[in-house]
This record gives sequence, structure tokens and C-alpha cells, in this order.
Amino acid sequence: MKKRVLSGMRPTGRLHLGNYLGAAKGMLALQDDPDYETLFTVVDIHATTTPYDAKTLQQSARDVFIDYLSIGLDPEKSAINIQSDLADVITQLSFYVSSVMTVARMQHLPTFKDKVKQHPDNVTMALLNYPLLMAADILIYKASKVPVGIDQEPHLEVAREVARKMNEQFGMDFPEPTRFATKGEYVPSLLGEGKMSKSVEGSSIELNDDLDTIVAKLKKAPTDAGTGAAVPTSGGVANLFQFVELFQGEAKRREYEAAYTGSGVRYGDLKKELAQAIFDELRPIQKKRAELEANPDYVDRIIKEGADRSRVIAEATVAEVREKMGLRK
Ligand code: TRP
Repeated sequence: MKKRVLSGMRPTGRLHLGNYLGAAKGMLALQDDPDYETLFTVVDIHATTTPYDAKTLQQSARDVFIDYLSIGLDPEKSAINIQSDLADVITQLSFYVSSVMTVARMQHLPTFKDKVKQHPDNVTMALLNYPLLMAADILIYKASKVPVGIDQEPHLEVAREVARKMNEQFGMDFPEPTRFATKGEYVPSLLGEGKMSKSVEGSSIELNDDLDTIVAKLKKAPTDAGTGAAVPTSGGVANLFQFVELFQGEAKRREYEAAYTGSGVRYGDLKKELAQAIFDELRPIQKKRAELEANPDYVDRIIKEGADRSRVIAEATVAEVREKMGLRK
């Protein structure tokens, strides 16, 4: 049997370049690998675990779904769904698996603690259960590979623990899922500190940015005199070089590094070339998105087909869990 891959993104706005390089490229590689069966989901139920706008959630989920298709996820090759189309089976499984995890274990997760700090007035049961909902997303398809960012490692650890315990206590055969890391996975902020993030103004390039916008954003990226004894390993210049490697290749990066310790780097030229390279990568994505937006009936059909395909696997797993846990058919 082929190994299954499952990945998901929360519908907190459209994808940006960081998401694209960090997780989506890994998804694309796996989709084309004949050793794997791939499933992808837009996790709108996860969005309800932190404060959100119910009026716009559906549209946001659809937007990310369309982004998925635009970047090249192919409904012929992958089952692509919106999580709440499978709410009955996924939330059901997440409740069942919560019986093997302790409250203390969930409370000590760094991701939980971060969210408690961010939203001290919203420390809900749903928030505490977030990692179990994610475990259910993965285990319901018995997926063994999960292309996500490194920040999700604590959640994958929970998923592995859940799998182990369900296997030991109830005789399930869940694989212990591991993270699939991609090369461009750490995408730095344009601002010289931290990673590219939607929530930090000016840090990110959006998938729908045009060339002028990318040029303008890069212009604001911090630089230095362009020359020195050693190539900086952190900060604005280090990040720019990282972008050069991601979009123009390692050889180009080495050229700039040599210039840095030699005749000097002209950042104006570097940024102009880099902006063009980034835009060249985004242009086909933007074209595909425009086509999809002009064809809403097709998108509706693909959303439905993705849910139907996913459901076949999901229902079989839930039926098996119910049986093994001694629940009625
Ligand atoms: N927690 C993930 C994030 O914040 C999103 C997610 C939910 C997910 N369920 C998943 C990712 C299942 C991979 C697989 O990015």
C-alpha cells in the first residue's frame, strides 16, 4: 500500500510566499511522487479555536482552497478538501482520541501556552483540543507523512503519541506520522528579523503581489554598506542572501557573498533582479487563480469531489475505531 500524506492550512487569509515555500512546495513534490497518496485540507474548524469572524470564514476557506489549486495542487492527483465538509467524522475521531491524552499533557504544549498569552480571554476547551483535532485530521487517513513547518513539531509529537496509545490500548494500526521537511522551509521576514508572517506588517510577499509591489517591499528591506570582512549570518543582509538562494540559486548567492568580502554588493541591483525572479515564480500562480475565479462552478465541483474522496477513507477509519473502542456500529 502507498504511504499517505496529509497536510493542512488554517484559513487565516490567503497564502503568502512563506507558506508557499515553507509547506506548499513540499506538498507539490509529494503529490508527484508515485510512492505516496496525497490528501490536503483547509482546516476551517481549527480557525474556530481562536477568535475569528463567522461571517467571512467560509470565504476564507474557499480562498485558501483556490490558492491550493493555483499553486499546483491537482485534484486529479490529490484529494483536496475543506475540513468542515467532514466535520462529523473528524470531530468524532478527535473526541475518541481525547480519551488517551491527559489534560496536563495538552496544557504543557508550547503552542498552547503561546496562544494563551496571545488570547488570554479565550482559553477555551477548543483551544486545548486543537492538537487533538489536528491528530484526528492526520490519523483519520492513517497518514504517515505531514509536510508542515518546523513550528508544528510539537503537534506532530502529540499525533504520534495518540497513534501509539490508540494502537496499544485498542489495537489500531495508525502509523506514527512524521514531518516532511522541504528545502526552502525557513523563509525569513523581509524586515531582517524572524520569519515571514502575515501578522507582521511589511514582512511578507503575497502570492498576488505584482512586480511593482514586490520591488517596493524589497526596497524597504534593511541592508548595510555592502562590504565587510565576513558575510553577515543574521539580519537583513543575511535574509536577502537567503532569498537570492531560494529564487536565483546557490551559485548566485555565492557570487554575492564573494562580492561582499571583495568589491562590494550593490543592493539596488540585487533587489531589482531578486524582485523579478520572485515575480517570475508568482506569475503562473496568479494566472491560474484568475482562471479559477472566473469559474466558480468548477471550484464548487472540485470542493465536493475532494470531500467525497476523503470521506471514503475517513468513514472507514472511524468505523474501525468505534468497533475497537466497543462503541455501537
Ligand atoms: N496546525 C497547523 C498549522 O497551524 C494546521 C493543521 C491543522 C494541520 N491540521 C493539520 C497541518 C493537519 C497538517 C496536518 O499550520
